[in-house]
Amino acid sequence: MKKIICLVLSMVLLMGAAFAFTSCAKEETKTTAPETKTGEEKTEEKLVTVQEGKLIMATNAYFQPYEYYEGEKIIGIDAEIAAEIAEKLGLELVIEDMAFDSIITAVSSGSADFGLAGMTVTEDRLKDVDFSISYANGVQAIVVPEGSAITHVDDLYADGAAYKVGVQLGTTGDAYATDDFGADLVTAYPNGNEAINALLKGDVDCVIIDNEPAKAFVKNNAGLKILETTYADEDYAACIKKGNDALRAAVDKAIQELIADGTIDAIVAKYIK
Ligand code: ARG
Repeated sequence: MKKIICLVLSMVLLMGAAFAFTSCAKEETKTTAPETKTGEEKTEEKLVTVQEGKLIMATNAYFQPYEYYEGEKIIGIDAEIAAEIAEKLGLELVIEDMAFDSIITAVSSGSADFGLAGMTVTEDRLKDVDFSISYANGVQAIVVPEGSAITHVDDLYADGAAYKVGVQLGTTGDAYATDDFGADLVTAYPNGNEAINALLKGDVDCVIIDNEPAKAFVKNNAGLKILETTYADEDYAACIKKGNDALRAAVDKAIQELIADGTIDAIVAKYIK
């Protein structure tokens, strides 16, 4: 079912991208109309951002290798892709770290220009924000202690099974697990680290979290493993304020170019071996 939803969403995204390109082309011809108060004729339509000259990115920087701290600095796949997008748009990138479940509010209320946070496109989120075309695939993985009775995703759904699941608050892992297993069995932690600590202490039986951060957690904490069977497949994209079509078209165009010239592949290869 989730795979079907993902497929449908991917198609919607692709169609959105196609629209973005055609409407972008249309808008450009429109803006050359002599509606000149300033006397500046035939200049390209200027993007309006939250702060002039800046592109403010909302993220949650506890999500290695997409966004995480190296000293004071936030680095990672999303941080580098954002820097490339900002450069293409001629804007200065500003990264703001916040709780994952605050990102959509920051974007929709207009305090950030876009959210880039390994964020999955979902129907629910599409009610509050628009999404760019997808720039990466994500997988919800299941992390368990070595020797766990949970050896396959199906074990979570077995008759009489009542495993305690840890997730990161406001993520798709949180939403899907709550749907599948009920709120009583799901505990949401403010970030992935805390979910993993709860697993290490035995407060939960497994943690459902995106595959790449899962790998980083397993590498840094002895006694944990990732199940070979996955929980869900997803698409990551940038979220943008609903109706800000100019910014969405510009971000789509930038991502499209960064995919086409291999920049995104190179950035991903740097962080994911
Ligand atoms: N892909 C998941 C979601 O969209 C988790 C993303 C968490 N990202 C982060 N930067 N903490 O819900």
